[in-house]
Amino acid sequence: MLIEGRQHRSIWYEAETDQVCIIDQTRLPHDFAIRTLRTLEDACEAIGAMRVRGAPLIGVTAAFGVYLALRENPASLDTAIRQLRATRPTAVNLRWALDRAARELSERTRSDAAGKALEFALALAEEDAACCEAIGEHGGEVLRRLWQEQCGRDRPLQVLTHCNAGALATVDWGTALAAIYKVADAGVPLHVWVDETRPRNQGGALTCWELRQAGIDHSLIVDSAAGHVMARGLVDVCVTGSDRVSASGDVCNKIGTYQVALAARDNNLPFYAALPVSTIDFGWPSAAEPIPIEEREPEEVSLTSGIETGGSETQVRQYPGETVVRNYAFDVTPARLVNGIITEHGVFEAERESLAALAGAQLSPSGP
Ligand code: MRU
Repeated sequence: MLIEGRQHRSIWYEAETDQVCIIDQTRLPHDFAIRTLRTLEDACEAIGAMRVRGAPLIGVTAAFGVYLALRENPASLDTAIRQLRATRPTAVNLRWALDRAARELSERTRSDAAGKALEFALALAEEDAACCEAIGEHGGEVLRRLWQEQCGRDRPLQVLTHCNAGALATVDWGTALAAIYKVADAGVPLHVWVDETRPRNQGGALTCWELRQAGIDHSLIVDSAAGHVMARGLVDVCVTGSDRVSASGDVCNKIGTYQVALAARDNNLPFYAALPVSTIDFGWPSAAEPIPIEEREPEEVSLTSGIETGGSETQVRQYPGETVVRNYAFDVTPARLVNGIITEHGVFEAERESLAALAGAQLSPSGP
């Protein structure tokens, strides 16, 4: 991704100093801060505190966390995997990356464990960037076709997105936003409606920041305005990312996605989810089976943070401490509301037979 004219990734390794670096996303949009992860505990903290977030990026950070653990103690593979796995429960990419790390590293002798773990993490990061670029190509084509059909080429395509499924949520490119970046690069004029995404405001804080860096026209709306802009005829298509897709095409994503999909269906608008195949959980048969839905601290809802006009950070209490808050972080959109699943291998119907073709692709270590 381009930040102030310079190419950046969300996570990277600096070989000269043997350091793993991340963009600290809790500082955005007011401050662009880079943070160094030195230990397994640093990696776990970064995922848990959402300095890095987004399903694919969590997986890649976990792989680097395994390296940091083995660098310190080559015998710590099992402990590292256990600690990293416990950081966040919903995005299946975390489990997928750690299962792969376990397979790659369990046969290694202790003397080469750290080196192999680093090789694995670097390969996974490259694979993620390549997958996301391919998702962008396929998703961009979906958007380009919609622009031709819906807008007659004479007005901008109106896209609505929820949360942040951009380069910040992956190593580079993103998933839903990758499609937007690719179609914009192809010269299609577009405008993006960005849902704020309470309570952590990944839309307002991260998606708007990314789109501004990329020079893409966008407007921020509160989550409850999504149905209104659709009903007013101001949206052509909705595209989001996902944290876990069932074998039947149900889409688990940031809380509020289900309401976006419902409003889209009521307004005859297509709703797409864009994701790497690593986000499909073939062990989750359908939405009828519950999956772990993260519930975060009530303070994310009852306190609000920002910067004062003078520039200093501040937190204010919106609701009294005794207000009971349930802070669900994800919901599940049933497959019947999903018009297509955009992956690095193309666009698939949100149903079992169509997605089954991807089960083999998930096992392949080489990405798209
Ligand atoms: O809680 P977050 O910020 O990690 O949630 C992120 C999302 O829900 C994204 O939409 C999803 O991970 C897809 S990212 C390409």
